[in-house]
Amino acid sequence: MREDITVTFTLNGAQVSIETSPGRRVLDLLREDLGLPAAKEGCGSGECGACAILVDGVARLSCLMLAAQLEGREVVTAEGLGTCENPHPIQAAFAASGAVQCGYCTPGMTVAASELLARNPSPDRCEVREAVSGNLCRCTGYVKIVDAVMDAAEAMRGGDS
Ligand code: FES
Ligand code: FES
Repeated sequence: MREDITVTFTLNGAQVSIETSPGRRVLDLLREDLGLPAAKEGCGSGECGACAILVDGVARLSCLMLAAQLEGREVVTAEGLGTCENPHPIQAAFAASGAVQCGYCTPGMTVAASELLARNPSPDRCEVREAVSGNLCRCTGYVKIVDAVMDAAEAMRGGDS
């Protein structure tokens, strides 16, 4: 059995050091050890996007990452994007656009959208669809999700159309 290691990284803006098995899945580390349940387990095999988090600004699938891979990284989960009291514009737009039904896919969708808007503040609908193409939603049909990301992009640009 491999010995536990201490992994140190930034999580939602705060420095974290945690002792863990190097092979522990990041999804389990976040949800079970660090009390952050936004990243969800859908497939557990890299196919649904429900577990997406940002690692150094890039959307990654936490079900496929191991704890040791977090050393020195900057991790943001959906909890770190915004709060109920102060939601990120993407989260606010998802709520306002009816892009949330059961909500299971929403944290991963917002993470994917946040990566997109950080590198491309003015995406077209095609680019939004491409950005969330790794995130499955069984409820919405995706149209309202694309609407929400377009609305968020506009809000983040300061309201131009
Ligand atoms: S749970 Fe990670 S991609 Fe589905
Ligand atoms: S809102 Fe239910 S899976 Fe997307």
